[in-house]
Amino acid sequence: MPVRLIVGAQWGDEGKGKIVDLLSDDADYVVRYQGGPNAGHTVVVNGETTILHLIPSGILHPNVRCVIGNGVVINLEVFFRELDKLAEKNISWQGRMRVSERAHLILPAHRAMEEAEEKGPGAVGTTLRGIGPAYRDKMARIGVTIGEFLHRNRFLEALERQRTWRERTVPVLPKKAVDPESVEAELAPFRERIASMVGDTGLELYRAAREGKRILLEGAQGTMLDVDHGTYPYVTSSSATAGGGATGSGLPPRFINEVMGVTKAYTTRVGLGPFPTEMLGTEGAALRDQGAEYGVTTGRPRRCGWLDGLALRHAARVNGLDKLAVTKLDVLSGWPMLKIATAYKVSGCDLVTEFPGRMDLLERAEPLYEEFPGWTENISNARAWNDLPETARNYLKRVQEIADVPIGLVSVGSARDQTIAL
Ligand code: IMP
Repeated sequence: MPVRLIVGAQWGDEGKGKIVDLLSDDADYVVRYQGGPNAGHTVVVNGETTILHLIPSGILHPNVRCVIGNGVVINLEVFFRELDKLAEKNISWQGRMRVSERAHLILPAHRAMEEAEEKGPGAVGTTLRGIGPAYRDKMARIGVTIGEFLHRNRFLEALERQRTWRERTVPVLPKKAVDPESVEAELAPFRERIASMVGDTGLELYRAAREGKRILLEGAQGTMLDVDHGTYPYVTSSSATAGGGATGSGLPPRFINEVMGVTKAYTTRVGLGPFPTEMLGTEGAALRDQGAEYGVTTGRPRRCGWLDGLALRHAARVNGLDKLAVTKLDVLSGWPMLKIATAYKVSGCDLVTEFPGRMDLLERAEPLYEEFPGWTENISNARAWNDLPETARNYLKRVQEIADVPIGLVSVGSARDQTIAL
């Protein structure tokens, strides 16, 4: 299976980091293809937790080459802070970290703009990492690429082009955030450090795939946060679905042989926007505590709720999922009755059985649930299908029926070995 893609099937935070780390075992390359430091991928190895925002989760495997693809937006300070932290843990990344020359920079102005935008009406509840403004500049064709950054004069020219464009359009930005010399002074220390990692990663991946090398494309955020297929406008600004794996890495779409979707056994969401199966009050708080549902990038409490079968089926369709990985099943231990939404009641409409593309319908959706008896056993030591209580197996069987996608992996804890392969 030379090219495999891992994608979030929900609103992010599905536990993709652990799954990518696991599957990196037999990968030659692990590639981030979209998003930026808004992501927070957690990998636990030998009891030690590593949180990665920009670096691909395969980095903990010493023979894996890691690529930040052209579809990613990079904050250089965050990138080097993360590499330095890895070095402190004696994880050597030298010679195997590659960055696309086409990836775009997150600049001081992007963070400044987002701060202002998120204070007023139209706020999305973003991570405030400058993601939206950086992608907006990319699409407006005034973004600055890593390739341009490598050459001081080209970089200053690109910043100047951006400044004059902004002077016509956004008069409120602090001078320091848009003045080319100030921005150059802030970012110059990173130039030499990144130079040897930068190249045409699309070409490198293409050649590697043609040679039969095994490539793992690591999605960030999730289907429901995708700018096209998510709950727009409460989405991130990139293509977080499998389609983004081709555009964001430079690999031809038909090179992708397998797509695995990662879903929690329940649902969480951070930030604003519709979430029909959200559990409010003490039930939601209990699930949050049991699942330690706090954002690893921003520390914000995550909104928690039951599994949404319509959202899962939507993810199965738009990503063409071949397999599912179901994570955090252990968190559901002790709940006497579990629920999965399989339809929505929306006033004035026929019964809704497919995830709606219209947000006005989604905002009014009342989920109709199927109920399942739960289990009380601690399942974190289960390593095989038959180690799971029958009620847990029945729950999973129904998840796979609703998604119409077979389950390939079940995760019952954060450690690598707390996994059931099917
Ligand atoms: P942005 O990506 O910072 O622009 O935020 C847009 C929306 O996506 C907000 O609701 C964020 O909370 C959400 N979001 C962004 N990255 C992640 C993630 O890695 N996990 C979960 N939610 C995320």
